[in-house]
Amino acid sequence: MNRAFPQVTIVGAGNVGATTAQLLLLKEIANVVMIDVASGIAEGKALDLMHMRGNEHFGPTIVGSNDYQDTAASDLVIITAGIPRKPGMTREDLIDTNAAIVRSVLEQALPASPEACYLFVTNPLDVITNLAIKLVDVSVNRLIGMGGVLDSARFTNAIAAETGASPKDIEAMVIGAHGEAMVPLPSLATVKGEALLDVVDGEALLRIMQATVQGGASVVRLLETGSAFYAPASSIASMAEAILGNTKALLSSCSRLQGEYGINGVSLCVPTVLGSEGVCRIEELPLSSEELHQLQASAEQVKEQLARIN
Ligand code: LAC
Repeated sequence: MNRAFPQVTIVGAGNVGATTAQLLLLKEIANVVMIDVASGIAEGKALDLMHMRGNEHFGPTIVGSNDYQDTAASDLVIITAGIPRKPGMTREDLIDTNAAIVRSVLEQALPASPEACYLFVTNPLDVITNLAIKLVDVSVNRLIGMGGVLDSARFTNAIAAETGASPKDIEAMVIGAHGEAMVPLPSLATVKGEALLDVVDGEALLRIMQATVQGGASVVRLLETGSAFYAPASSIASMAEAILGNTKALLSSCSRLQGEYGINGVSLCVPTVLGSEGVCRIEELPLSSEELHQLQASAEQVKEQLARIN
């Protein structure tokens, strides 16, 4: 292990976990311990990634294991373990199976890394993040979910595709639950500093919204045997970079609301300043009344889903 870098545990060596590991190494964000219940998978992929170091010359290292003792004293634990969606399934169809998996992961990961931030990726993302807050005695700022960054990436890409602008000239955010009820914020989106709503017509806006909300399902439909992983991994890496580098980047993250946006006691994707303590602050953006209403409806939906698993 290269002690110049922080340490990240990735639970789950499937497509999302392994692609995240690859990005953390290539971007030199952290050393990685990758854990999987299937023996050999995490070790094999870690070894393959280490071989890549011969060409890419990155500084951090990775080990694969199925023993949580190897994850001790991690700064960030990223939980990707769980079953993915199949065509026709919603993220919510995964609740019972994935809740049990995450419960067991936390029982093992937390004693090894009691000071870490925990980043939940397993779907249904918002329900899983809220469940974790109920299960463990860890301050809520260190229990965060990944969803909004991914949805925002899809929103940005859809705007780029429709306008021809470069994604780097686009500011666009999606908040709310990471599901069909997500809340893209067209009223705040900009393209080269101009309001999106001044740049595209109603039909183009509809196509953008559809591509954003249906982005994950479109990938599932095409792959047939799994769900997206490149864009999810890149979204996780962005959040990891903000947390471990204490950059205070503003990212749509599943964070515990305590009165912001008129919502209390539930975690949802909202604009969040991320740093070494996890959630540093939630920003209250000036939403339109429709966007605010949708966000509050998302909160109710997540609360209902959470109540159903207990
Ligand atoms: C998606 C899944 C991973 O949005 O939630 O692609």
